[in-house]
Amino acid sequence: MSTYSSEDTRKVTTHRLVEMKRRNEKIAMLTAYDYSMAKLIDGAGIDVILVGDSASNVMAGNITTLPITLDQMIYHGKSVMKAVNRALVVVDMPFGTYQGNPLEALSSAIRIMKETHADCVKLEGGAEIRESIEKILCAGIPVMGHLGLTPQSINKFGTYTVRAREEEEALKLVEDAKVLQEIGCFALVLEKIPATLAEKVAKELTIPVIGIGAGGGVDGQVLVMHDMLGINKGFSPRFLRRYADVGTIIEDAVSHYVTDVKEQDFPNEKEQY
Ligand code: KIV
Repeated sequence: MSTYSSEDTRKVTTHRLVEMKRRNEKIAMLTAYDYSMAKLIDGAGIDVILVGDSASNVMAGNITTLPITLDQMIYHGKSVMKAVNRALVVVDMPFGTYQGNPLEALSSAIRIMKETHADCVKLEGGAEIRESIEKILCAGIPVMGHLGLTPQSINKFGTYTVRAREEEEALKLVEDAKVLQEIGCFALVLEKIPATLAEKVAKELTIPVIGIGAGGGVDGQVLVMHDMLGINKGFSPRFLRRYADVGTIIEDAVSHYVTDVKEQDFPNEKEQY
């Protein structure tokens, strides 16, 4: 297996991501929700850590991302921030904390920044949340956008299938992407859309476009860590590459431990005082 080693230990900033796009250096982003995992992936050279609201699924066991609260996201953000030296850390704004009105969006974003010390926030949606994004940007808080499949709107879409296959939705997505760049978002996530459309958006925008299930023609990739490590075993969409089978490693280790305890093999004489 080939590994990447970055000599550059400087903190990743929103400005460096834009430079990376200019230099055609791809951006590697993963989710993390806790101190130990964040420490491992930061040390392994990840550029961006997303404290995603996918924590609702993989950490809290909810079916959707909707139930996770601002307090819970702040808890995860704080834990991650204690571990990270290099990566840019983005915290997702959870459902219901920014769509209502711009002032509510601003106070939610300020809580995230003050209490977690993260670098920036991410919000799902385009022109319809423009005023909320503008208000957050006015306070000097960098914003990452998120278009395409937006899991917080699952009840509107009714399914997690590929978005923007039809021309009308594709045109709206391109327009929304331009709006997000124009108002000042520093980057954009495109989730589960056709690769040709994602490539077109990445070419038309000067801000970095990071894809998940959006093909290789974008400026970077993001995956949910539990999916790519094989911890979330039941989830295997076409876009997902599994880099390890950590789920099986954990199951085997625990089963071995249970056997050792039952058979009084653990602890042995050297493993006691
Ligand atoms: O919450 C999350 O993990 C995300 C990624 C899927 C981009 O938003």
